[in-house]
Amino acid sequence: MKLAVASCAKLQDTNPQPVWAEIQARRPDVLLLLGDNIYLSHDNHDEPAGLTAELQALYAAQFAEPNFAALLADLRARNCPVLAIYDDHDFLGNNRYGGDYGPALRQAARDAFIRAFAPAQTGGDVYHLHHLGPIDIAILDERFYRRSPAVSSTDRDAILGGTQWAWLEQIVHSPHQARYLVIASSTTLHTFGDESWEQYPAAFHRLVDLLHGREGALVLSGDVHRNAVYDDSGVIEIVTSAVARKGLIFGARRKNYGLLTFDDAKVNVDLQSLKSGSRFNFDIPLNHWELP
Ligand SMILES: [Fe+2]
Repeated sequence: MKLAVASCAKLQDTNPQPVWAEIQARRPDVLLLLGDNIYLSHDNHDEPAGLTAELQALYAAQFAEPNFAALLADLRARNCPVLAIYDDHDFLGNNRYGGDYGPALRQAARDAFIRAFAPAQTGGDVYHLHHLGPIDIAILDERFYRRSPAVSSTDRDAILGGTQWAWLEQIVHSPHQARYLVIASSTTLHTFGDESWEQYPAAFHRLVDLLHGREGALVLSGDVHRNAVYDDSGVIEIVTSAVARKGLIFGARRKNYGLLTFDDAKVNVDLQSLKSGSRFNFDIPLNHWELP
Protein backbone atom coordinates (compact mmCIF):
# COMPACT_ATOMS: atom_id res chain seq x y z
CA MET A 1 0.00 0.00 0.00
CA LYS A 2 1.74 3.12 -1.24
CA LEU A 3 0.63 6.53 -0.03
CA ALA A 4 1.75 9.71 -1.84
CA VAL A 5 1.68 12.85 0.32
CA ALA A 6 2.00 16.46 -0.74
CA SER A 7 1.13 19.97 0.35
CA CYS A 8 1.65 23.60 -0.63
CA ALA A 9 1.16 24.03 -4.38
CA LYS A 10 1.02 27.57 -5.66
CA LEU A 11 0.10 27.79 -9.30
CA GLN A 12 0.69 31.56 -9.32
CA ASP A 13 4.44 31.01 -8.90
CA THR A 14 4.91 27.44 -10.13
CA ASN A 15 3.24 26.74 -13.44
CA PRO A 16 3.41 24.15 -14.91
CA GLN A 17 3.83 21.62 -12.11
CA PRO A 18 5.64 18.57 -13.56
CA VAL A 19 6.14 17.17 -10.06
CA TRP A 20 2.67 15.61 -10.29
CA ALA A 21 3.88 13.49 -13.23
CA GLU A 22 6.79 12.28 -11.08
CA ILE A 23 4.33 11.27 -8.39
CA GLN A 24 2.14 9.54 -10.97
CA ALA A 25 5.15 7.56 -12.21
CA ARG A 26 5.58 6.17 -8.69
CA ARG A 27 2.11 4.55 -8.99
CA PRO A 28 0.70 5.48 -5.58
CA ASP A 29 -2.43 3.74 -4.26
CA VAL A 30 -3.71 6.91 -2.68
CA LEU A 31 -2.94 10.63 -2.89
CA LEU A 32 -3.10 12.62 0.32
CA LEU A 33 -3.11 16.42 0.00
CA LEU A 34 -2.42 18.10 3.32
CA GLY A 35 -3.50 21.66 2.49
CA ASP A 36 -2.39 24.90 0.93
CA ASN A 37 -3.37 22.99 -2.18
CA ILE A 38 -4.14 26.38 -3.73
CA TYR A 39 -3.16 29.86 -2.55
CA LEU A 40 -5.61 32.70 -2.13
CA SER A 41 -4.10 35.88 -3.57
CA HIS A 42 -6.30 37.94 -1.24
CA ASP A 43 -5.90 37.15 2.46
CA ASN A 44 -8.44 39.69 3.60
CA HIS A 45 -11.82 38.50 2.34
CA ASP A 46 -14.54 39.52 4.74
CA GLU A 47 -17.65 38.55 2.80
CA PRO A 48 -18.47 35.02 1.58
CA ALA A 49 -19.28 35.76 -2.08
CA GLY A 50 -15.86 37.21 -2.87
CA LEU A 51 -14.10 34.41 -1.00
CA THR A 52 -16.11 31.74 -2.81
CA ALA A 53 -15.44 33.29 -6.20
CA GLU A 54 -11.70 33.40 -5.65
CA LEU A 55 -11.50 29.87 -4.23
CA GLN A 56 -13.56 28.47 -7.11
CA ALA A 57 -11.38 30.16 -9.72
CA LEU A 58 -8.19 28.88 -8.07
CA TYR A 59 -9.51 25.32 -7.76
CA ALA A 60 -10.56 25.38 -11.41
CA ALA A 61 -7.07 26.50 -12.44
CA GLN A 62 -5.33 23.89 -10.27
CA PHE A 63 -7.56 21.06 -11.46
CA ALA A 64 -6.85 22.14 -15.05
CA GLU A 65 -3.05 22.07 -14.59
CA PRO A 66 -2.20 19.25 -17.02
CA ASN A 67 0.13 17.23 -14.77
CA PHE A 68 -2.22 17.43 -11.80
CA ALA A 69 -5.20 16.60 -14.00
CA ALA A 70 -3.38 13.58 -15.44
CA LEU A 71 -2.48 12.31 -11.96
CA LEU A 72 -6.08 12.62 -10.77
CA ALA A 73 -7.34 10.89 -13.92
CA ASP A 74 -4.86 8.05 -13.44
CA LEU A 75 -5.87 7.60 -9.79
CA ARG A 76 -9.55 7.61 -10.74
CA ALA A 77 -8.96 5.04 -13.50
CA ARG A 78 -7.21 2.76 -10.99
CA ASN A 79 -9.91 3.29 -8.34
CA CYS A 80 -7.42 4.96 -6.02
CA PRO A 81 -8.70 7.65 -3.66
CA VAL A 82 -7.67 11.28 -3.41
CA LEU A 83 -7.89 12.41 0.21
CA ALA A 84 -7.52 16.09 0.94
CA ILE A 85 -7.80 18.75 3.58
CA TYR A 86 -7.27 22.49 3.49
CA ASP A 87 -4.89 24.68 5.44
CA ASP A 88 -4.92 28.49 5.76
CA HIS A 89 -4.16 29.52 2.17
CA ASP A 90 -7.02 27.43 0.76
CA PHE A 91 -9.38 28.44 3.55
CA LEU A 92 -9.47 32.08 4.72
CA GLY A 93 -5.93 33.22 3.95
CA ASN A 94 -2.52 33.39 5.56
CA ASN A 95 -2.55 32.39 9.26
CA ARG A 96 -6.31 32.93 9.58
CA TYR A 97 -8.40 30.68 11.81
CA GLY A 98 -12.03 29.85 11.11
CA GLY A 99 -13.06 30.13 14.75
CA ASP A 100 -12.06 33.78 14.77
CA TYR A 101 -14.61 34.56 12.04
CA GLY A 102 -18.37 34.32 11.67
CA PRO A 103 -19.99 31.12 10.40
CA ALA A 104 -20.88 32.47 6.95
CA LEU A 105 -17.27 33.11 5.93
CA ARG A 106 -15.83 29.81 7.12
CA GLN A 107 -18.76 27.82 5.76
CA ALA A 108 -18.17 29.42 2.36
CA ALA A 109 -14.53 28.29 2.47
CA ARG A 110 -15.45 24.76 3.52
CA ASP A 111 -18.17 24.54 0.85
CA ALA A 112 -15.71 25.59 -1.87
CA PHE A 113 -13.31 22.86 -0.73
CA ILE A 114 -16.07 20.24 -0.73
CA ARG A 115 -17.21 21.26 -4.20
CA ALA A 116 -13.64 20.87 -5.46
CA PHE A 117 -12.71 17.56 -3.84
CA ALA A 118 -15.90 15.81 -2.81
CA PRO A 119 -18.77 17.16 -4.88
CA ALA A 120 -21.03 14.29 -3.83
CA GLN A 121 -20.97 15.61 -0.28
CA THR A 122 -23.12 18.56 0.68
CA GLY A 123 -22.28 20.60 3.74
CA GLY A 124 -21.14 19.19 7.04
CA ASP A 125 -17.75 18.45 8.47
CA VAL A 126 -14.79 17.45 6.33
CA TYR A 127 -12.79 15.58 8.94
CA HIS A 128 -13.17 11.86 8.44
CA LEU A 129 -11.67 8.41 8.86
CA HIS A 130 -10.64 6.56 5.72
CA HIS A 131 -9.89 2.81 5.79
CA LEU A 132 -7.30 1.61 3.33
CA GLY A 133 -6.11 -1.96 3.76
CA PRO A 134 -3.71 -2.01 6.74
CA ILE A 135 -4.03 1.76 7.32
CA ASP A 136 -6.60 3.92 9.02
CA ILE A 137 -6.21 7.52 7.89
CA ALA A 138 -7.78 10.14 10.15
CA ILE A 139 -8.02 13.39 8.23
CA LEU A 140 -8.28 16.33 10.59
CA ASP A 141 -9.89 19.71 10.01
CA GLU A 142 -7.56 22.14 11.78
CA ARG A 143 -9.00 25.35 10.36
CA PHE A 144 -12.77 25.45 10.73
CA TYR A 145 -12.89 25.43 14.55
CA ARG A 146 -9.44 26.74 15.35
CA ARG A 147 -8.90 30.10 17.01
CA SER A 148 -5.69 32.02 17.45
CA PRO A 149 -3.24 30.70 20.07
CA ALA A 150 -3.65 33.96 22.01
CA VAL A 151 -7.16 32.94 23.04
CA SER A 152 -6.95 29.14 23.12
CA SER A 153 -3.48 28.00 24.19
CA THR A 154 -4.86 26.58 27.46
CA ASP A 155 -7.99 25.08 25.89
CA ARG A 156 -7.85 21.27 25.71
CA ASP A 157 -10.34 21.37 22.82
CA ALA A 158 -8.22 23.83 20.85
CA ILE A 159 -7.53 23.41 17.12
CA LEU A 160 -10.13 20.67 16.55
CA GLY A 161 -13.08 21.74 18.68
CA GLY A 162 -14.82 19.47 21.19
CA THR A 163 -16.77 17.26 18.78
CA GLN A 164 -13.81 16.50 16.54
CA TRP A 165 -11.67 15.78 19.59
CA ALA A 166 -14.19 13.23 20.88
CA TRP A 167 -14.35 11.64 17.42
CA LEU A 168 -10.54 11.33 17.25
CA GLU A 169 -10.24 9.88 20.75
CA GLN A 170 -12.89 7.32 19.96
CA ILE A 171 -10.88 6.24 16.87
CA VAL A 172 -7.65 5.81 18.83
CA HIS A 173 -9.42 3.92 21.63
CA SER A 174 -11.43 1.70 19.30
CA PRO A 175 -10.76 -2.04 19.62
CA HIS A 176 -11.20 -2.42 15.84
CA GLN A 177 -8.21 -0.67 14.39
CA ALA A 178 -6.02 -1.22 11.37
CA ARG A 179 -2.36 -1.99 11.94
CA TYR A 180 -1.32 1.54 11.09
CA LEU A 181 -2.92 4.82 12.07
CA VAL A 182 -2.04 7.89 10.03
CA ILE A 183 -3.11 11.24 11.44
CA ALA A 184 -3.30 13.67 8.51
CA SER A 185 -2.66 17.14 9.86
CA SER A 186 -2.39 20.31 7.80
CA THR A 187 -0.16 22.09 10.30
CA THR A 188 2.83 20.56 12.03
CA LEU A 189 2.71 18.94 15.44
CA HIS A 190 6.17 20.08 16.44
CA THR A 191 7.32 23.65 15.94
CA PHE A 192 8.95 24.37 12.60
CA GLY A 193 7.33 27.72 11.93
CA ASP A 194 4.58 29.79 13.41
CA GLU A 195 1.53 27.54 13.23
CA SER A 196 2.32 24.31 15.03
CA TRP A 197 0.31 22.36 17.59
CA GLU A 198 3.01 23.29 20.10
CA GLN A 199 1.59 26.81 20.10
CA TYR A 200 -1.44 25.29 21.84
CA PRO A 201 0.16 23.48 24.79
CA ALA A 202 -3.04 21.98 26.19
CA ALA A 203 -4.12 20.52 22.86
CA PHE A 204 -0.57 19.50 21.94
CA HIS A 205 -0.15 17.45 25.12
CA ARG A 206 -3.59 15.95 24.73
CA LEU A 207 -2.69 14.70 21.23
CA VAL A 208 0.76 13.46 22.26
CA ASP A 209 -0.73 11.58 25.24
CA LEU A 210 -3.37 10.09 22.97
CA LEU A 211 -0.88 8.75 20.41
CA HIS A 212 2.09 7.99 22.64
CA GLY A 213 2.83 4.27 22.75
CA ARG A 214 0.40 3.43 19.95
CA GLU A 215 2.65 1.37 17.67
CA GLY A 216 1.90 2.03 14.04
CA ALA A 217 0.65 5.59 14.65
CA LEU A 218 2.27 8.59 13.01
CA VAL A 219 1.41 12.17 12.19
CA LEU A 220 1.76 13.39 8.61
CA SER A 221 1.85 17.15 8.19
CA GLY A 222 2.67 19.88 5.67
CA ASP A 223 2.60 23.68 5.66
CA VAL A 224 6.24 24.63 6.34
CA HIS A 225 7.88 24.23 2.91
CA ARG A 226 10.37 21.56 3.81
CA ASN A 227 10.66 17.85 4.47
CA ALA A 228 11.50 16.80 8.01
CA VAL A 229 11.09 14.00 10.53
CA TYR A 230 10.71 14.46 14.25
CA ASP A 231 9.90 12.46 17.34
CA ASP A 232 11.00 14.57 20.28
CA SER A 233 7.61 14.28 21.97
CA GLY A 234 7.54 10.50 21.54
CA VAL A 235 5.13 10.75 18.61
CA ILE A 236 6.54 10.28 15.13
CA GLU A 237 5.89 13.18 12.80
CA ILE A 238 6.72 13.19 9.10
CA VAL A 239 6.55 16.58 7.42
CA THR A 240 6.44 17.04 3.67
CA SER A 241 5.65 20.38 2.18
CA ALA A 242 6.21 22.58 -0.89
CA VAL A 243 5.33 20.19 -3.69
CA ALA A 244 5.20 23.12 -6.11
CA ARG A 245 6.52 26.35 -4.66
CA LYS A 246 9.20 28.86 -5.36
CA GLY A 247 11.56 29.65 -2.49
CA LEU A 248 11.05 33.09 -0.99
CA ILE A 249 14.59 34.38 -1.08
CA PHE A 250 16.40 32.83 -4.03
CA GLY A 251 13.31 31.77 -5.94
CA ALA A 252 14.54 28.18 -6.02
CA ARG A 253 12.11 25.57 -7.27
CA ARG A 254 10.79 23.22 -4.62
CA LYS A 255 9.24 19.87 -5.36
CA ASN A 256 9.00 18.11 -2.06
CA TYR A 257 6.72 15.14 -1.59
CA GLY A 258 6.58 11.89 0.30
CA LEU A 259 5.89 8.26 -0.46
CA LEU A 260 5.06 5.95 2.40
CA THR A 261 4.92 2.25 1.60
CA PHE A 262 3.24 0.11 4.24
CA ASP A 263 3.62 -3.65 4.49
CA ASP A 264 2.94 -6.18 7.24
CA ALA A 265 6.10 -5.45 9.19
CA LYS A 266 7.19 -1.89 8.41
CA VAL A 267 6.62 1.39 6.69
CA ASN A 268 9.21 2.72 4.29
CA VAL A 269 9.38 6.52 4.28
CA ASP A 270 10.76 8.12 1.13
CA LEU A 271 10.81 11.92 1.20
CA GLN A 272 11.81 13.44 -2.12
CA SER A 273 13.36 16.88 -2.36
CA LEU A 274 15.72 18.82 -4.60
CA LYS A 275 17.58 19.81 -1.43
CA SER A 276 19.86 17.03 -0.27
CA GLY A 277 19.34 17.90 3.41
CA SER A 278 15.60 17.37 3.02
CA ARG A 279 15.82 13.91 1.45
CA PHE A 280 15.08 10.92 3.62
CA ASN A 281 14.67 7.22 3.03
CA PHE A 282 14.26 4.90 5.98
CA ASP A 283 12.11 2.16 7.45
CA ILE A 284 10.11 2.19 10.66
CA PRO A 285 9.54 -1.40 11.79
CA LEU A 286 6.20 -2.02 13.44
CA ASN A 287 7.84 -3.94 16.30
CA HIS A 288 10.31 -1.13 16.96
CA TRP A 289 8.18 1.94 16.37
CA GLU A 290 10.62 4.81 16.43
CA LEU A 291 12.71 6.82 14.01
CA PRO A 292 15.99 5.15 13.05
FE1 LIG B 1 -0.37 26.83 5.75
